[in-house]
Amino acid sequence: MIEEITAQGLDAERFINEKVMEIKNAVGDGTAINALSGGVDSSTVTMLGHRALGSRLETVFIESGLMREGEAGQVAGVFRKLGVTVRIVDARKEFFSSLKGITDPEEKREAITRVFYRNVLGRIVNASGAKCLLQGTILTDVEETVAGIKRQHNVIEQLGIDPQEAFGYRIIEPIVRLRKDGVRKIGMALGLPAELFERIPFPGPALSARVIGEATPERIETVRKATVVVERLLKETGAFQYMAILHDDRVTGMRDGKRDFGQQIEVRCWDSIDARTATPTKLSFEILDQLARQILREVPGVVSVTYNISPKPPSTMEAV
Ligand code: XMP
Repeated sequence: MIEEITAQGLDAERFINEKVMEIKNAVGDGTAINALSGGVDSSTVTMLGHRALGSRLETVFIESGLMREGEAGQVAGVFRKLGVTVRIVDARKEFFSSLKGITDPEEKREAITRVFYRNVLGRIVNASGAKCLLQGTILTDVEETVAGIKRQHNVIEQLGIDPQEAFGYRIIEPIVRLRKDGVRKIGMALGLPAELFERIPFPGPALSARVIGEATPERIETVRKATVVVERLLKETGAFQYMAILHDDRVTGMRDGKRDFGQQIEVRCWDSIDARTATPTKLSFEILDQLARQILREVPGVVSVTYNISPKPPSTMEAV
């Protein structure tokens, strides 16, 4: 049982000092690796790790091909300004070949976990001689995985997998007692810019969690383009999270006077405090109308746009 530290009960300075000491003790005079996605959790862990280890922590951004438009360069740029060098590792081919032909959600998650931890990070850790991986698992990730709701890709030991045996390195999880609101507080105290600690959550399996059915490069590109529109239009809503989802089934549409058996995008926008429960944001019809028009105009092959009105539970926030 992991004991929760609530955002209200969190003393940011004390927490940071304790975690910096813990990381220093765990790594000793060795080196460590951390994978940064640019989300709140991994960004916070990157700053904690660098405070503890300085240049003895190597930060990598794994370009899986499943990330959002321009994300790798953007994240590396923000961290460069914070004095942290980020190495971008191109693993697109490996991720797409492991996802080929897989449509089951849990199998997709497992394939991503395998490529991410065993193949890509395993290789990086081996080549660097590092003994541990620092990662930003939070309490909600652990709970939902252990409860069997969804296998979050960063939950390893809590599922009874020994990372040393399975991947060849140890895993340190400094923020595992926190939830998202607590992590934001720590990120802010560590000097992350607001554009990072206020960033909406983004799932570990990235855009593949938003493609129902097979995550091919083409289908990922479709959801990536729809994500650009959704994030642009819903940025000002102050909602907890918003996303585009690509459906597997097609519907009959028409374009230029001809039948177009096209794809469907579902938009979700959530109000939530900690992602355990959530309700759809009451968007105005004007915004919904703009979402539809701009997605239909900017995303090739899409003929239908819908808005999700179901709360979590019984829905979950991501579709897959
Ligand atoms: P769900 O979909 O479980 O998402 O209601 C809750 C929050 O966790 C974020 N998140 C993930 N969701 N797989 C997920 O399904 C992951 O690996 C993951 N990592 C983070 C999700 O975006 C939402 O904020």
